[in-house]
Amino acid sequence: MTRRPVIAIDGPAGAGKSTAARNLAERLGLVYLDTGATFRALALKAIREHIDLSDESALAALAERSEIRFEGERLEKIFLDGEDVSEAIREQAVANASSAVAVHPTLRAGLVELWRKIGTRGGVVLEGRDIGTVVFPDAEIKFFLDARPEERAKRRFSEQSAKEDVTIDRVTQDLKIRDQADRTRQHSPLRRAEDAIAVDTTDLTPKQTLDRLLEETRKRLN
Ligand code: DC
Repeated sequence: MTRRPVIAIDGPAGAGKSTAARNLAERLGLVYLDTGATFRALALKAIREHIDLSDESALAALAERSEIRFEGERLEKIFLDGEDVSEAIREQAVANASSAVAVHPTLRAGLVELWRKIGTRGGVVLEGRDIGTVVFPDAEIKFFLDARPEERAKRRFSEQSAKEDVTIDRVTQDLKIRDQADRTRQHSPLRRAEDAIAVDTTDLTPKQTLDRLLEETRKRLN
């Protein structure tokens, strides 16, 4: 591998992006950036401060006085105002709120700047919704992961039910709402970049997904 690549992994919730992005980064010795975690961090703070999630200027002011930073060898931990919120941002209520926060263009602009700063030197796998379309449209490799909605809901349920009291119906419903919001928002909606490699993970194990991504990556980088 000559040049340190930027690898974009986009797709809806539960498509297997996080696991795939982490595994791929580890195998290739790259850094991993979970861009959704930054929306989740701001959403967490907005919930704690009882800020109306539709109030763009209040959220922009909140973002202004927030410090978000990634830490760890592979940037796997996220800190909000000095507090490690890597676990707290995984709650279902925070996931739901993050999608509402992500519709606001002023907030997105600030976060995109942060992601680009981290990604611009290369050597990074970025996971999100708009990495291949907006954030790094010239990424060396782009993947679009997707899976059947029932399978995505099942995966989310098994993750969430280990941590909090949720039902499969609730998770399915929340996922549907979040999908709809992410796909239809005006700014940087979730969509596959034309040059992204589509991978349907419905019937794939995490290992099979990783193998598929590695195979495509090697084809393109060698
Ligand atoms: O990937 P995730 O579920 O942690 O993302 C949380 C929310 O953040 C998701 O519903 C949409 C939003 N998001 C986004 O709009 N753009 C990104 N690049 C990443 C996430």
